[in-house]
This record gives sequence, structure tokens and C-alpha cells, in this order.
Amino acid sequence: MFIGKISVNGFKNLKDVEMEPHERLNILCGRNAQGKTNLIEAVWLCTGARSFRSTKDRRFIGDDEQVMDIGLSFKNNFRQQDIRFSMAKPNIREKNVFLNGVKLKTPSKLFGNLNCVIFTPEDLELSKGSPDNRRQFLDLSVSQIKNNYAHVAAKYENVLEQRNVLLKNIAFGRADREQLEVWDVQLAHMGAYISLLRYNYTKKLNVFAKKLYYEISDRQEELDIAYSSTVYPNELLQKSTDYTGGLTEHYLRTLKNNIEDDIRAGFTQRGAHRDDMTAKINGKNAREDASQGQHRSIALILKLSQAYILEEEIDDFPVILLDDVLSELDPSRQRFVISKIHGMQVFITCCDLNIPFGKKDGRLFMIEGGRVTAGDGETNR
Ligand SMILES: Nc1ncnc2c1ncn2[C@@H]1O[C@H](COP(=O)(O)OP(=O)(O)OP(=O)(O)O)[C@@H](O)[C@H]1O
Ligand SMILES: [Mg+2]
Repeated sequence: MFIGKISVNGFKNLKDVEMEPHERLNILCGRNAQGKTNLIEAVWLCTGARSFRSTKDRRFIGDDEQVMDIGLSFKNNFRQQDIRFSMAKPNIREKNVFLNGVKLKTPSKLFGNLNCVIFTPEDLELSKGSPDNRRQFLDLSVSQIKNNYAHVAAKYENVLEQRNVLLKNIAFGRADREQLEVWDVQLAHMGAYISLLRYNYTKKLNVFAKKLYYEISDRQEELDIAYSSTVYPNELLQKSTDYTGGLTEHYLRTLKNNIEDDIRAGFTQRGAHRDDMTAKINGKNAREDASQGQHRSIALILKLSQAYILEEEIDDFPVILLDDVLSELDPSRQRFVISKIHGMQVFITCCDLNIPFGKKDGRLFMIEGGRVTAGDGETNR
């Protein structure tokens, strides 16, 4: 799929942006703090996901503006579609989101229409960084291909929070442990669902990641990615096709067996919120042994695999958003990434035009002070 038109006004510092992106390559060039990432973020919000840099809703509208409005047209194999996303002060809770002219209840209802994969410099920490990042990565990946997932994951967090409050109250003698039951049943149900979907996704990820890693390491190294659950042994997840029944019961039992520990700790110690994804290179645990460069390769490959899985699911290319990533990579990894997203529509931000594109057609956009103008059209140096 590709985006044919973008208009943005009043989103952060962006003003009167009207763009007709190229079907393949688009370079957004400008000095620091001119609005490049803001533009990528505006596109990203049209996917239905939350901001990748956790911008609070109240910061969406520019400081000097009363209204923000994002409009976007994109085409997939079948047809052209339009998305509008707007908000006005002071009523920032109310998001006016339209898909093909039909108002949607929440921005998350946009999920599954415009499919994008975003790479940011933070993503390069995916392998090396905290488990939190990897869980977020998995959650976003699964929600891109499974309609109800984002909703369940948000609800899980909510119930977990309530359970944790209750655990503390029990410890202080302000509540009874019988009260845990209602939360545990819900948590087990949703936790089993999340675990199974993440496990299945990780299995797919491993298939793509293994091939790509073999290539990026010049056929020297073999990568293995696995889901690491704090509730289930992987054999149990492997033979399960349904999250209800056995899986839910097992989850519930785990919660119950840990109640004393949980009360003492004041939080729920096992569950989908504590799970992780592990990587091995040639059989050795990447967490302990991988070099900085290996971690970066793993991270890049996870993101590329995410794009490929999405492509397989939607039977179309997703749009790739590369925010400040290429400049962070050495030339051989730059070339690798570029070769692997060939054929997809790409948006690349950069501060100078020092990126390795030959004389390909594409479009150059310059950004200054939140305004976008057409560059001289040449994307090569
Ligand atoms: N709500 C807002 N209203 C007005 N300006 C904002 C708002 N939120 C952020 N900005 C401004 O937007 C500007 C551009 O931010 P952005 O992150 O897009 O820059 P960038 O071009 O990606 O820069 P860099 O190359 O450093 O990544 C910043 O100066 C920031 O202060
Ligand atoms: Mg930026």
C-alpha cells in the first residue's frame, strides 16, 4: 500500500503541510527541531496506534493553535481510502476520527487499515534494552494483525493495576484475600490469550529473523528467537491452539500458587506483564554475550521481520517509516536495510542528504519551521 496524500495543520509545530508522496521513496530533510519526527508521528497516528514517542494527547495541538487536523489518503491493492484525525482545544479528549467519511468511536478503531512499520533510534535498543521494550514490540506487532488484541492488552493492564492495589491493601490488613478471586479470573483469561498470541507471533518472527540474521552476519551466525513466559513452559504453549480451558486454568493456578509471595512483594510477580522474548546467537544467550553490533543487528532484523509478517498477513506491502535510523547505522547495515525494504513505500527523515541512494526516483521534501516544501526532486546526492 502507499500513501498518496498527506495534509497536516496544527499538529505540534506543523503548519499547512500538503504533500503528495512518491509511491516508493520519500526523503524528509531538515535541520533539528524543524518537524520531521512530528510529520512521521502524524502519519503514524493514522494507523490507530498510540504515539511511538508517548506524546500526551494534550501536546498534539500546537502551542499557538486551537485545532489540529491530519488528513491522509492511501491506496491498497483494492481501493483508495481516506483518514481524518482532528482535535480542538479545550476538548482534547474528543478525537474526531473518520475513515472514508465514517466517524469512528476511538482512534484505535483505525487499526488494520493503514499499515505502517516504524523504525526509530530507540528501536535499535530492542535487543539490548529492557523487557518492557520487547513486550511493547510484541504487543504492537500482534495488534497490527489481530483486531481485538490492543483492547485486551489495555484491559489486562487495567485489571493488573487493580489486583496490585488489592495486594497492598491485603498486606496492610485493609482487604481480604478472597477479593482477589474476581481479578484473578479475569487476569487468567486475558493473560492466557495474550501469552498464546505473543507466543505464536514469536514463532513466526523466528522464521523470518533466522533467515535475515544469517544474511546480515555473512552466513556466520544463527539467530534463534523464543518467547519466554513466566507462567507457561513453552511446550504447553506449543501444543495449545486455544487459550480457554487448559491454558486459562494453568494461568489461574499460577496466580493462586503465588498469592503469598505476591502479597509480600506488593505486586503480581508472574504473568504476561513479566514475560520476555529471548535471543540466542549460535546457541548462546544474546542478553549475556552479544556485542553492541550484534544487538543492533538483532533489533534491525526484528523490525524487518515485523514488516514481512505484516506483509504476509495483509497480502500487501506496509509503509515503512524510518525516523533518524539510517544515520545511526554503518554503511553495510544501511545497505542491508534498504535492500530489504525494496518495493515498499518508505519515508526517511534525515538532517543532510548523506544517505546511500543511487539515482532512483523518489521525492525530496524539505522541512523548516513546521512547513514542508518540495526539494529539487533529486534524492541522490
Ligand atoms: N505541542 C507543540 N506545539 C508546538 N511545537 C511543538 C509541540 N510539540 C513539539 N513541538 C516542537 O516541534 C519541534 C520539532 O520537533 P521534531 O521532533 O519533529 O523535530 P525533528 O525535525 O524531528 O528534529 P530532530 O532532527 O532533532 O529529530 C520541536 O522544536 C518541538 O519543540
Ligand atoms: Mg526527529
